[in-house]
Amino acid sequence: MNDDEFELFQDYFRRRTGIQFGAGKRAYIERRLDDRLAKTGEPSVRSYVTYLKYADRGDEMQSLVNAMTVNETYFNRETYQFNILVKAILPELTTERPDRPLSIWCVPCSTGEEPFSIAIWLLENWPSVDRHHIDILGSDIDSAVLATARRGEYDSRSLQHLSPRLREKYFRPAGPGRWRVIDALLRSVDFSSVNLTDAGQMKQHGEHDVVFCRNVLIYFDDESRRIAAERLYEALRPGGFLCLGHSESMDRISRLFKVRRFADGVVYQKPV
Ligand SMILES: C[S@@+](CC[C@H](N)C(=O)[O-])C[C@H]1O[C@@H](n2cnc3c(N)ncnc32)[C@H](O)[C@@H]1O
Repeated sequence: MNDDEFELFQDYFRRRTGIQFGAGKRAYIERRLDDRLAKTGEPSVRSYVTYLKYADRGDEMQSLVNAMTVNETYFNRETYQFNILVKAILPELTTERPDRPLSIWCVPCSTGEEPFSIAIWLLENWPSVDRHHIDILGSDIDSAVLATARRGEYDSRSLQHLSPRLREKYFRPAGPGRWRVIDALLRSVDFSSVNLTDAGQMKQHGEHDVVFCRNVLIYFDDESRRIAAERLYEALRPGGFLCLGHSESMDRISRLFKVRRFADGVVYQKPV
């Protein structure tokens, strides 16, 4: 792949997904693109991009996305925000109507550990959990990780930050070193395919009280981050909260949100 082809591919993929690969990722991209070229029979990166652009190539685009995304996640990642959720966000959202339904959206959710962790955290740490109907939705652009999320089956590495007590309570053995979430937990989370930068796809999922959008904006360029911020703003009810990953921030991206500082950390809020 020459420099022009690298730029051409980067630009096309960024406009479709928001994801911007730095020069340091060239070998990573090249390996995966070689595989896609071999599978489609396209002789060059230039012709492969044309193939994606000028025909109905939804399936190939999905295979490419699945090959390119970084899906690192695990149970109980960055739990300081789960503390903010139960100690500050949910009490605030339910002050006026202590039995109101609540909707929480993890976009992106990768293989599902984050939405299942939130469900477990609420059951274990939020005394009012039984008073509310709570919808938890997980979405991602990668169809392969969503298939794993829907199965709810994980290896021990994914579960390493869960205590043995929680593992015994919410999982069943599923073969050597593997665990499957119990049916009740599996049923408590819905999963769907969504591109965070696509206004139409995001709107289909309506408005939510809390959106977790963690550890994806780090892969976006500034323009895609601004687009994502607008989509996330639209995805929240007035007064709803947005949680970003610990190394992500709305500084320099968007002034749409109010910054809310709590003892455990910072989250963002859509003004009422
Ligand atoms: C590193 S994982 C983060 C998962 C989880 N939020 C966490 O913090 O553990 C990043 C995920 O973002 C997804 N992703 C990348 N671009 C996306 C987009 N435009 N829309 C939706 N999901 C996207 C990837 O497929 C990947 O599963």
